Amino acid sequence: MRRPWLPLAVATATALLGGQLAFAGSATAGSDPVAAKPSPAYPADSLRALAARVGLRIGTAVNADELGTNEKYTQITAEQFSSVTAENAMKWAEVEAVRGTYTWEKADQLVAFAEKNRQLVRGHTLLWHNQLPAWLSTDGYTTTLSNDEVKAALKEHIFAQMRHFKGDIWQWDVVNEAFDDNGQPRQTIWYKAWGGTGYIADAFRWAHQADPRALLFYNDYNLEFTGPKSNAVYELVKSLKAQRVPIHGVGFQGHLSTQYGYPDLQSNLERFAALGQKVALTEVDVRTLTKPDAVNVPVDALAPYAQESYWSRSLKACLAVRACISFTPWGFGDSYSWVPGWFSDPQAGAALIYDEQLNPKGQYHVLQQDLALAAGAPHRG
Ligand code: XIL
Repeated sequence: MRRPWLPLAVATATALLGGQLAFAGSATAGSDPVAAKPSPAYPADSLRALAARVGLRIGTAVNADELGTNEKYTQITAEQFSSVTAENAMKWAEVEAVRGTYTWEKADQLVAFAEKNRQLVRGHTLLWHNQLPAWLSTDGYTTTLSNDEVKAALKEHIFAQMRHFKGDIWQWDVVNEAFDDNGQPRQTIWYKAWGGTGYIADAFRWAHQADPRALLFYNDYNLEFTGPKSNAVYELVKSLKAQRVPIHGVGFQGHLSTQYGYPDLQSNLERFAALGQKVALTEVDVRTLTKPDAVNVPVDALAPYAQESYWSRSLKACLAVRACISFTPWGFGDSYSWVPGWFSDPQAGAALIYDEQLNPKGQYHVLQQDLALAAGAPHRG
């Protein structure tokens, strides 16, 4: 897993396969033996083929249990997307549940799949307060380790994980969700061990040492809306830049809900891009109310149209901003979505672009249409 990733040029070669026009990815690095391998074909009207025309990567979060076992799921992952993110397989609790014993199998399988299918990988995530191994912390806010032990553990983790995947990861989410919705730094084990937010700069510096070619991202939710949180992260990025900390991008998770309105996403993408950052939509889903509930909230018959509109507008916001290099829905089939299991509102769901049987919904078709009409968008290069 140590081969450097190759930049994939815009889909160039076309071939008529089985009567269907298909694009094949073509790599630019001529002498590399892997680049010379024939690439798998994917449909000319797939999201990935359409997005490649403006140099945008369309990604998906991938469920490690379905990949390779569920045929339809696996085929859609390969055909529709040009970037993949492990939904869970690269999180600390998964890779080092037992201290000092690393388990890379699931993540390695995803990286191999991506390589075979000419996809780039978003690494998610090195530092977070959730899904930590129990030996480190059960809640992200308390630990039995000393401050020095916490610091050493983070350094070791970043080097171990990034070295394992060195050259295979396009974008790493180095720090995930360090601020709360009021724009205050979360008082996590990291914050406490460092006595402040200094851990963020250290994490980025270590990450850059471990894999100097990876694009290093800060990733969070609700950055889509202008407000205390988005402003706090903006100030953070400015200050990291002033300290010459190697940060290259800001990930906007994009967990939207028709209940809360559509955010001023494009202007937020623009202001972070103006700081010299790449930006990306990293975990998009658009949930809505799916059933009448006990307190008798009526289901809005217009909700599916609102969802299509949110999907379309968030993709267009990314397309309009040249620094927006990837657009990643957080999975693609409603039966695999984290939404119904996570949000306390039991009606929340239907958040993805394929239904529970993995058939494309209207939400898929609006994305496809927007990409088909995106020829005038700036090329990402
Ligand atoms: C979620 C996964 O989708 C779930 O399967 C898991 O149980 C919890 O985490 N923000 C993130 C992602 O950065 O890692 C989260 O993924 C969703 C919210």
